[in-house]
Amino acid sequence: MNLEVILNLAGFEALARARLPAEAYSYGAGGAGDEVTLRDNIAAFRRRRLRPRMLVDVSNVDPSTTMLGGASALPVGVAPMGRQGWFHPQAEGAGARAAAAAGSVFCASTLSNLPLEEIAKAGGLRWLQLYVHKDRSRAEELVKRAADAGYEAVVLTVDLPVLGYRERELSASSHFPIGTEIGNFPDMTFDSYDVSSPGTEHDNSLTWDFLARLRELSDLPLIIKGILTAEDAALAVEHGASGVVVSNHGGRQLDRAPATIDVLEEVVDAVAGRAEVYLDGGVRRGADVLIALALGASGVLIGRPFLWALAAAGEAGVTKAFELLTSEITTDMALLGTPRVADITRAHVQ
Ligand SMILES: Cc1cc2nc3c(=O)[nH]c(=O)nc-3n(C[C@H](O)[C@H](O)[C@H](O)COP(=O)(O)O)c2cc1C
Repeated sequence: MNLEVILNLAGFEALARARLPAEAYSYGAGGAGDEVTLRDNIAAFRRRRLRPRMLVDVSNVDPSTTMLGGASALPVGVAPMGRQGWFHPQAEGAGARAAAAAGSVFCASTLSNLPLEEIAKAGGLRWLQLYVHKDRSRAEELVKRAADAGYEAVVLTVDLPVLGYRERELSASSHFPIGTEIGNFPDMTFDSYDVSSPGTEHDNSLTWDFLARLRELSDLPLIIKGILTAEDAALAVEHGASGVVVSNHGGRQLDRAPATIDVLEEVVDAVAGRAEVYLDGGVRRGADVLIALALGASGVLIGRPFLWALAAAGEAGVTKAFELLTSEITTDMALLGTPRVADITRAHVQ
């Protein structure tokens, strides 16, 4: 694989599509319903414009920051995505190692193919994404294991009480290959977990009071992923969250939910500095990252582009994706007249 020909994150998708079984590609690419939200996540970023300032000393640009207290070389992490073994045999190990080498966060999904302890061997900043099974002791056990394995945060995903109506998955019958193990639960396979109707497995009776239980289980900071309103942002903070992720699950859950960049400011205002605000959905360029920072995000997570990079070339692909992002972010910070992440303010976006 000649990765030199890849000039931007978008370049990985065609390569991935050519290599993957059609149903795996559909599973990764698709969204819910008419995919209005999926498209809007990207379009809403592209409607915004940056306001560059001139004659600032940008001889030394530094895109490093902190993400939930951990030093990160970029304000970008890998979003949690389950079943990465379907996309490349290196599975989650590839992204975890590439993120560690790039000095960025890797967020491991509950539904990873590799167990969280195996992913942790990559080192670096690790967050564990949590889905809560009807047998809540499974999630509780996972949190304790994450703390023991040196994870830095627990990310509770709250936007999947039931699976969104994902037509591309339905029409491609993109069921995970039968018998494949869920790394974190050796007694379960993806078919026994029945991801096609998670209402049967996921605990969709969860309410805000579960956050208190989660906070008892470990000292790890808690991030709530899937927040789209000021009201829920305020509730997350009141229930002890250290961070929220403004996310619509990459347009895979409620179609017609707003584009994440369109609600970022409302969430930032409601949180009012009491927690960190992250965003995912539609981030495809360094300029998108700068726009999110200008509107108040502490950093962003990126999903599909890293998945396509993984499918195209495993760890080398994800490493290349981080290189491209570093170069775009650094170039755009220089052109925006903001040599440090802290220099990027609301005044830098129209
Ligand atoms: C194939 C795939 C699997 C995903 N699996 C999970 C998951 O296990 N847990 C979770 O919280 N979010 C999951 N997500 C959502 C991502 O974490 C993230 O919110 C979304 O992909 C961001 O949008 P983007 O793909 O436009 O960057 C998944 C997304 C994709 C594309």
